[in-house]
Amino acid sequence: MDASLFVNTEGRQTNTRPADSPLGLHGNRPKDTLPAPFCGKMARVRLTMATISDAPSKSRRSFLSLSAAASAALAMRIVTEPMLAHARDHHPPKDAVMIDANENPLGPCTSAREAIVTITPQGGRYLDGLTEDLVDSIAQMEGVKPDYITIQAGSTELLHHTVCAFTSPQRSYVTADPGFESGMFAANAMGARVVKAPLTKSYAHDVKAMLAAGTDAGLFYVCLPNNPTGTLTSHSDIEYLVENKPKGSIVMVDEAYIHFSDATSAVDLVKADKDVIVLRTFSKLYGMAGLRCGFAMGRPDLLEKMYAYGGGNFMPITAMVAASASLKHTKLVDERKKINADNREAVFHWLDSNGYSYVRSQSNCFMLDTKRPAKQVIDAMAAQKVYIGRIWPVMPTYARITVGTRPEMEQFQAAFKKVMTGAVTASMGETTLTKRRLELLT
Ligand SMILES: Cc1ncc(COP(=O)(O)O)c(C=O)c1O
Repeated sequence: MDASLFVNTEGRQTNTRPADSPLGLHGNRPKDTLPAPFCGKMARVRLTMATISDAPSKSRRSFLSLSAAASAALAMRIVTEPMLAHARDHHPPKDAVMIDANENPLGPCTSAREAIVTITPQGGRYLDGLTEDLVDSIAQMEGVKPDYITIQAGSTELLHHTVCAFTSPQRSYVTADPGFESGMFAANAMGARVVKAPLTKSYAHDVKAMLAAGTDAGLFYVCLPNNPTGTLTSHSDIEYLVENKPKGSIVMVDEAYIHFSDATSAVDLVKADKDVIVLRTFSKLYGMAGLRCGFAMGRPDLLEKMYAYGGGNFMPITAMVAASASLKHTKLVDERKKINADNREAVFHWLDSNGYSYVRSQSNCFMLDTKRPAKQVIDAMAAQKVYIGRIWPVMPTYARITVGTRPEMEQFQAAFKKVMTGAVTASMGETTLTKRRLELLT
């Protein structure tokens, strides 16, 4: 089947408004306020969606009954962390503690900020050489060839496009539960079966269970460290998954948070030309979530399949110079890893001393057991201007907490104690958006 997609004249796909949007979200706006189909400078192109061209399974007929254009539009709806971090729905005040979306309160490092200021007068130019420079720096650092690297405005896009490329009504998407949800939405859009395999008792990906449940898999998603638990999966388990996966499938290892942890990267499997794509982002340790830069590493033939679903647009020069400057700061990873670990361990120490339960994490977030439906605690914390993260249906008494600055975590502790001792209660009700998200995730 050929599907028609809209791209702008610079070659980038853009969102249209599918009438039957599964989420009703775009840029965090409610469905009713979405703009009419965006059509600035548009060119209509034809794109072959080979992965949805095979015979439909019975359960996916409704998906395939959509027009090709509508299917393609669904596949373009990228679901990001800030969309999922539903505190934003409640319009938090400016002085709120925002520890709900795994952001880095430190922002970009000083040399990255300086690089942005220096390049700004040239903002009227495309300067594509800056992206090539960044690719070269990453290639050198990671020991992979430049054509094994692709850069986009954040790794969510890369994640989404990879899921679109490798899943279909015949090839399932296999993920951990709890796990980062974005890929599930992409798989849904492709009409793929979504398989959620519970984490092991030590909160690692249960690769054997993933393999057993995903004999028809197109893509296995491993998040290292896992979002939301901040826990690790061993390199040997990831190797086992790669060696035993069904033919034609790939393993996508999302290393968005790896710099905070002692995990062993899966990049060696990319170098060995395995069916593996590794994702990284500058949004987390590098504090560039609002600047937007992420990259994927994989065999060129795998990246080529991903390109069919998007990418290739020009990157903002501010993000390119900030990312390059961050990589040149050779002590940055160690310094920020320590800051995060110190703040995280201080909170863990406080939680231990007060008898509260949580999952030990190696990341900039952790799961906190509130011992009641966690929504009650999320609301009562918000009433004290401390916005904590969301709930995963499989762990209904837990909420995800992002590690912020020490003063922010002190505010968190004070507010949490008030909630747990019954001094503060509040109920904010579900927004329509939150309800829709929960419906889709259960
Ligand atoms: C596991 C995981 N992967 C990828 C991303 C995407 O980050 P970005 O698009 O900002 O690079 C996030 C964001 O929170 C994440 O949690």
